[in-house]
Amino acid sequence: MTLKPEVIVTSDSTELARAAVRIFVKAAKDSVARKGCFTVALSGGSTPRHMNRMLAQEPHCSSIAWGKTHIFWADERCVPVDDPASNYGTARRDFLGRIPIPIDHVHPMPGEAAPEEGAEIYRNELKTLFASKEGEFPAFDLILLGIGLDGHTASLFPATPSAALSKKWVVAVKGGTPDVHRLTLTYHILNRANHICFLVSGESKAPIVKVTFENKQAGLPAQKVQPINGRLTWLMDQQASSLLTTTLEGLEGL
Ligand code: 6PG
Repeated sequence: MTLKPEVIVTSDSTELARAAVRIFVKAAKDSVARKGCFTVALSGGSTPRHMNRMLAQEPHCSSIAWGKTHIFWADERCVPVDDPASNYGTARRDFLGRIPIPIDHVHPMPGEAAPEEGAEIYRNELKTLFASKEGEFPAFDLILLGIGLDGHTASLFPATPSAALSKKWVVAVKGGTPDVHRLTLTYHILNRANHICFLVSGESKAPIVKVTFENKQAGLPAQKVQPINGRLTWLMDQQASSLLTTTLEGLEGL
């Protein structure tokens, strides 16, 4: 990766959630001011949950034009919505049920459909909502991603190279924890975002963060996230960044 990411290190996970809220609110305001709406794709996992809950609280909740916001997902586990593993189900409990967003502005991936069919359904939904003409691709205003201990991001795992090569928008894959079928946006779509922000918290992530930043040849899925024209931010807490030997100012990019 040649792009230099912006790296922000916070003192702990609470500060990380606060910083993530600031990024979300700013992206929402800027996008609404620029083009009248805001499109954001969320990820699953535990790290974004604190930020998500904060978004439903004041003063943040009323600073976002929810009526002009459309929420999507970068990935989803193929489980029923009421399964604790459902990314949409978790987000609904954490904040979607407590913010004034029109129901038709929330676009969960169809985790209950057969995986291949679900990928096609979501692709068509993106095509309609982004009014993409033939040859055009959706470009999200903001995509929030996490990184797994093996360097996966969204549901793009080291063992799913076909997803890396795919020109498809959404693919069905199997893997991860829990080891279930999943739907995920491809790099092809992720990398068109205006702003991609990784949220990384905790000591357990320190080794993979070190590999991501200091071994450019590792070929990790997270390293393949390289916005074509957009911004890339790595927002981590002190614990997650603790094994980095490069000074943050000296990071040349992934
Ligand atoms: C998922 C994810 C996945 C996640 C990372 C980090 O649905 O599993 O989108 O890519 O972001 O595994 O998860 P944590 O935040 O729990 O560490």
